[in-house]
Amino acid sequence: MVGISTNLIHNKTVSRDVIPPINISTTYKYSEDPDDLVKVTDSKGSEDYFLNDTYFYSRVNHPTSELLEKALSKILDGHVVVYNSGLAAFFAALTYINPKKLVIGQAYHGCHGITKIFSRLNGLEVLDLKDPGSFDKLQKGDLVHLETPVNPHGLDFDISYYAELAHKKGALLMVDSTFAPPPLQYPFKHGADIIMHSATKYFGGHSDLLAGILVVRDKSVQYKLYEDRVYLATNIGNLESTLLYRSLKTFELRILKQSDNCEQLVKYLNDHRAEFKVLKELFHGSLQTTKYPDQITKHSPTFALTLTSEKLAKSLPSKLNYFVHATSLGGAESLIEWRALSDSSVDPSLLRVSVGLENIDDLIEDFKNALLSLE
Ligand SMILES: Cc1ncc(COP(=O)(O)O)c(C=O)c1O
Repeated sequence: MVGISTNLIHNKTVSRDVIPPINISTTYKYSEDPDDLVKVTDSKGSEDYFLNDTYFYSRVNHPTSELLEKALSKILDGHVVVYNSGLAAFFAALTYINPKKLVIGQAYHGCHGITKIFSRLNGLEVLDLKDPGSFDKLQKGDLVHLETPVNPHGLDFDISYYAELAHKKGALLMVDSTFAPPPLQYPFKHGADIIMHSATKYFGGHSDLLAGILVVRDKSVQYKLYEDRVYLATNIGNLESTLLYRSLKTFELRILKQSDNCEQLVKYLNDHRAEFKVLKELFHGSLQTTKYPDQITKHSPTFALTLTSEKLAKSLPSKLNYFVHATSLGGAESLIEWRALSDSSVDPSLLRVSVGLENIDDLIEDFKNALLSLE
């Protein structure tokens, strides 16, 4: 089997350039041969319309978005549709599936924001993932949304358990796998029906683009999503797609190194807990008592911690040299966020940490000194 990096580095492009040219055109010339010109109603179908390597308007598709979809489909074990953000991907999935009931638990606050819009517009009933009774209420066509590892704690949930609960009722399971892209986790292998990613995070990896991904099992669903995307107007922009395609070439190197760095930092903090009087709790998949080794082969590069007070939690970022106090995750640079600044639902003494690509000894030393300085 061809490996992740090989698949992402070698892709046929439309030009002879080794690196695909930046294509900023929003519109593309039609053929000069009158025989090629057919009325849109006479085209052979959605495949002909969307993916015949002829482009006519970049809201529909463009060479680099198509290149991204072909490359990502090879490593994600399915058919990929790319969007202009992770939330646009979530919005597209809800629009396509159009469930009457949605089971959702702890998840990125923006996904909850979108479910509220659906509840307002078409009465979507939102049920709690933690309540076992929620699954009894599901019917065919409904949806279970599982985020694993979950934001902001980086803890793992059992995908196959939720797949079974959903499928028993004829509902679908969508997994937000943003915190653990391949090769860390492959949700289709454990029963997921649809996978989403905020590609802004690890696929992008440089904190310089917004993008989202849906992965589906059937080509026919991919085409339906393309069709919806034209009118939802959520295709990725030309320049962002160039940045994302560049990022994919180093993706496997980055995700593996970031996962190793995170696990080492978490292990250091856990092993030396007694020395850090301000440290209250540590959350990460590597510390979980219930583990899912078949599901997650390496842990997410994001973890969370709580300190003994809100005031200390607000102070920690300013004591660190190599962790930038900013939201988001997945970039080369380590980030830390006093999470209450962007998500009002979390414990105000919680900090989320996205571990980057720096030298691990420097990161450990920095974290140690910052925690000790708060005592
Ligand atoms: C788990 C998860 N899902 C979805 C999103 C939304 O992605 P985007 O910011 O690309 O819209 C985020 C963003 O932080 C996230 O962490």
